[in-house]
Amino acid sequence: MEKAAGKLVVVMVLVTAAIFEGTRSLSLCDMSDDGLLACKPSATQPNPVDPPSEECCKALTGANLTCLCSYRNSWMLPSLGIDPDLALGLPAKCNLTTPADC
Ligand SMILES: *[C@@H]1O[C@H](CO)[C@@H](O)[C@H](O)[C@H]1NC(C)=O
Ligand SMILES: *[C@@H]1O[C@H](CO)[C@@H](O)[C@H](O)[C@H]1NC(C)=O
Repeated sequence: MEKAAGKLVVVMVLVTAAIFEGTRSLSLCDMSDDGLLACKPSATQPNPVDPPSEECCKALTGANLTCLCSYRNSWMLPSLGIDPDLALGLPAKCNLTTPADC
């Protein structure tokens, strides 16, 4: 019983490490760390900054929005303190078009 639990923890640590390695720390969907930080105030509850800052919109312009959409139901964004619904509403607020299948 205890052994199995230990194994699960190891697996989870490895998976987490792999995910963070794959996204190069905070970089997400071609957004730089700076861009992500600029957008974070607008994608965080309870008082999101609206409209998002120019830096954030600039970062989103270069971001892979298709990729961002794939995080809608992921625990990744909440684990960074980001509200997925707010995050995916940001492109529209920057007058960017989100992919149709988002
Ligand atoms: C954007 O992300 C999607 C899903 O991760 C990927 O399939 C696609 O190739 C990426 N597009 C660009 C331009 O990097
Ligand atoms: C988006 O477009 C609207 C209407 O054209 C404009 O009023 C608004 O300032 C634009 N917002 C940004 C962030 O460019």
